[in-house]
Amino acid sequence: MPVRVGVIGAGVMGAEHARLLSGVISRSSVSLVSDVDSGRAEQVAAAVGARAADDPLTLIASPDVDAVLIASSDATHEEFVLAALAAGKPVLCEKPLAPDVAGCERLLAAEQGLGRRLVTVGFMRRYDPAYQLLRAALRDGELGAPLLVHCAHRNVSSANHSAAQSISGSAVHEFDILRWLLDDEIETVEVHRGRRSGRAGCDDPILLLVRMRSGVLADIEVFVNATYGYEVRCEVVGETGTAGLGEPIGLLVRSTGQVGRGVASDWRARFLEAYRQELQEWVDTIADGAPPPGASTWDGYVATVVAQAGVDALDGRRVPVALVEKPQEYR
Ligand SMILES: NC(=O)c1ccc[n+]([C@@H]2O[C@H](COP(=O)([O-])OP(=O)(O)OC[C@H]3O[C@@H](n4cnc5c(N)ncnc54)[C@H](O)[C@@H]3O)[C@@H](O)[C@H]2O)c1
Repeated sequence: MPVRVGVIGAGVMGAEHARLLSGVISRSSVSLVSDVDSGRAEQVAAAVGARAADDPLTLIASPDVDAVLIASSDATHEEFVLAALAAGKPVLCEKPLAPDVAGCERLLAAEQGLGRRLVTVGFMRRYDPAYQLLRAALRDGELGAPLLVHCAHRNVSSANHSAAQSISGSAVHEFDILRWLLDDEIETVEVHRGRRSGRAGCDDPILLLVRMRSGVLADIEVFVNATYGYEVRCEVVGETGTAGLGEPIGLLVRSTGQVGRGVASDWRARFLEAYRQELQEWVDTIADGAPPPGASTWDGYVATVVAQAGVDALDGRRVPVALVEKPQEYR
């Protein structure tokens, strides 16, 4: 029997996850799709052989849904994760787990109260083959002790954006991947705003400086109106060498006196393999009755705490990251 997934949110990410779960991932199917825009829910449901549900809570409670994937707007995540926990169903929630720290703390408390873990947060970069190689190089000691990390996150364009959104929506991926790569926690965050791109409606690009508890420093460029393409870069500088993400797999074209390769236009193309592996492992653990894989409720909580520190740091301060004590369940 395949794992029957109910997808909440039929926008960009919900449609992509539904497509993968119904056609690419083994041992899964999509049974129900829900969106406040019922036309969109019906369109995505029809494309993947599912039905549109009346509303997300009906979807979560349905006996036709074994597991829930939440890809609706950020502000809805807490309510739907809580409902999935109350129904005792595994849930993959797109980042952020909840946009505010208090919401994440309520979700931590709810999962602990349940006595078993059911939540995976969609920090899919942990499944990207290049990031996995980088982590392995660090674990193998190939680079010596890590000292510095250079990160960049560039989007083509983002209208109606704010610097705070660049931190909570984009830099949040960097916060999670730094913790995962270095097996370390972020201690402080600073944000620097320099010359603004004439194409941007807000402070863009911005530069964050993150200090890990070990003393490793990481600089993070977030440039959401970079125009030329979607690109994520990461290089770790260690005591005896450096390693960074290689160029994504693709064609190298020689033509009209030039040699070059294309650049992804958004995250779906760049991280397709990461989304695929994330979903496959999630489905496999549900089918096998194993604990949820990937980023946990704790990781989702930490990412939101760091993002909040980053937003607070927009006033020029270096802001410390204050975490509650890590509960036993997540150690
Ligand atoms: N992991 C990643 O790489 C990644 C990339 C992009 C977005 N995201 C996250 O995925 C989520 C969805 O992003 P998106 O780009 O698909 O946005 P989107 O705006 O394209 O889609 C969101 C959908 O949620 C629906 N929705 C809003 N409120 C709802 C409600 N109460 N009930 C049901 N449906 C509701 C909207 O109608 C819309 O169709 C966001 O939380 C976003 O932060 C993650």
